[in-house]
Amino acid sequence: MSRYGEFPGARPRRLRTTPAMRRLVAETRLHPAELILPMFVREGLSEPAPISSMPGVVQHTRDSLRKAVTEAAAAGVGGVMLFGVPEVKDAVGSQGTDPDGILQRAIRDVVAEVGDAVVIMSDLCLDEYTDHGHCGVLDDQGRVDNDATLERYAEMAQVQADAGVHVVGPSGMMDGQVGVVRDALDEIGAQDVAILAYTVKYASAFYGPFREAVNSALIGDRKTYQQDPANFSDSMRELALDLEEGADMVMVKPALPYLDVLRKVADTVDVPVAAYQISGEYAMVEAAAANGWIDRDRTIMEALTSIRRAGANMILTYWATEVAERL
Ligand code: PBG
Repeated sequence: MSRYGEFPGARPRRLRTTPAMRRLVAETRLHPAELILPMFVREGLSEPAPISSMPGVVQHTRDSLRKAVTEAAAAGVGGVMLFGVPEVKDAVGSQGTDPDGILQRAIRDVVAEVGDAVVIMSDLCLDEYTDHGHCGVLDDQGRVDNDATLERYAEMAQVQADAGVHVVGPSGMMDGQVGVVRDALDEIGAQDVAILAYTVKYASAFYGPFREAVNSALIGDRKTYQQDPANFSDSMRELALDLEEGADMVMVKPALPYLDVLRKVADTVDVPVAAYQISGEYAMVEAAAANGWIDRDRTIMEALTSIRRAGANMILTYWATEVAERL
């Protein structure tokens, strides 16, 4: 017999009677400080450019980025994650390592604007910069070359650190990327720059709208480097390796379809765990809400609360500023 069966006086509904009661007993709360806003900055724009598959999200100009970061900071958002979209892409993603590349300029702008008031993070990956859209450089057979890519990542880490970023986010899923990035940072005296490792990153269809956000030309998929959604043990292996290589924080991505993985990661590690509520998760809610099929604001809060409940200490979300203002 269940314990409560022996106590017929137990009525769980008593604790759900009023908003004040529900607030009192809530086990999971959201706080602006744990939200991270991903942002896109595109070279050569004179006006912010809307991203049609992500209504409400734009590719920023350097100016509008500065303003939006200031707004996010004022709302109490804990961090921003910057993605650069260069005018010219090539096979090796040269703009990703150019000290004057759009991301490096944007980091300098933002650091000058908000300083240490908010944690400035940058995506460390080549897909925004390559004309083929892959996260690395290709070998002569067109396959993503792991070790040649690591050399590019090392250089990216150094130019981003030089620009003043606080945290780099290696997201390309190359083997050994965290260790290489750590060494590259230490080599130039950037010991204080932290690594938020995209540790558990699945080859997900939910990244769809992101392609538009960074004008990606990707043909094909990323299944030879990102994880198979069918697998779980893979995530534990990635986690062990990233921690060994020096990850300061780890990330699970996407968020909502992978809450089981998130819970396991959160139970396993003693470093902060981030979850990335990605472009497709955003787009689905916005599209359904625009059709009047779901209550937008409630859905957003429910999804974020679920991600927190599953163990995320931090959440990357395109709604960060809006939600922070609402909290
Ligand atoms: C790689 C990167 C991607 C995202 C963040 N970093 C794209 C990918 O891995 O295919 C996706 C974020 C999103 O969909 O919101 N630079």
